[in-house]
Amino acid sequence: MPSTARSTPNIAFIKYWGNRSEDLRLPMAPSLSMTLDRPTVEITVEEADAFAVRSFLADGSEKTLKEKDIERFRKVLALMQRYLDTLGAANALSENLLITVRSHIPPAVGLASSAAVFSCLAKAIAGFIREKKELTDKQVSILARLGSGSAARSIFGGFSTLEEGGGMEIGGSWSEQIADEHHWLLHDIVVIPAMDEKKVGSTEGHALASTSPFYAERVKSIRSRRQRECIEAIRKKDFEALQRVTEEDCLDMHHVMETSTPPLHYLNAETHRIVDAIKALRTKAHLPVLFTMDAGPTVHLVCPEEGRSAVLSFAHAQKGCTIFETKVGPGACLVE
Ligand code: PMV
Repeated sequence: MPSTARSTPNIAFIKYWGNRSEDLRLPMAPSLSMTLDRPTVEITVEEADAFAVRSFLADGSEKTLKEKDIERFRKVLALMQRYLDTLGAANALSENLLITVRSHIPPAVGLASSAAVFSCLAKAIAGFIREKKELTDKQVSILARLGSGSAARSIFGGFSTLEEGGGMEIGGSWSEQIADEHHWLLHDIVVIPAMDEKKVGSTEGHALASTSPFYAERVKSIRSRRQRECIEAIRKKDFEALQRVTEEDCLDMHHVMETSTPPLHYLNAETHRIVDAIKALRTKAHLPVLFTMDAGPTVHLVCPEEGRSAVLSFAHAQKGCTIFETKVGPGACLVE
């Protein structure tokens, strides 16, 4: 029976950067994010005569996938089967699957799609095999992690972690929910300054993390303090504490990226200008808002309801930028 799932990206407050196993995407340290309510991706998994991946854009047109993208799906499905083997579900996935991806992520918006795509694929696979094996959300998050580490967190709505876990086994890291999407209404106003595709993807980027002289200290700080501070800030809905730890962690990740060999520069002059401007505005207007950036120049401005209209006006006043509005959302689900 075909199975269709829907999912969305997430925005990390404590960033996942660097692995203890590149192939299995086992993270070096824990991370934490808020799952967003849009843009959505839908994926259908069904039996076919031969393995194929088809991808459709927001306007319904078919996107020709690069050979390396199709290979990534093939590799991820093989890893997923390897994990399913450990759960006693050998041969649950046939080699001849048709994967149909329908993305509602506007092409002009520089939002990373891998978290949405691989959480969606994991959920669709869970639906596809459910007569043979029922998976828990934790197990589905492990399937998602095999496609993209951050994808594990989008299995849950609201606020969730990617746990560091332990060991070198395929199931050795998973996601856990801290609070659901009804706990705290936070908005993410996304300001996209440039459309150029990032030069080094996060998969290759993770492998460089340990070449930075600041990486060991980063891992230590997250393990000993930052992850806990972030969890507490979310539980208590303490926006100031969330702002402090999120911005500290974001700037630290970019410092690690910029000091790795070779260096990775994801932020550009526009990013820095927007960050300086929002800092000035929040001091002047006592605005509750925090900034954070992933592996690209896009600035995420996260704020509670009371900051939303001022942050939106600020965002729309940024010349040449595309604005995308999103907020905390419910996570991956099956739609058929
Ligand atoms: O899931 P990946 O391999 O695309 O890595 C995500 C990396 C960051 O977006 C920079 C941080 C994060 O935790 O989402």
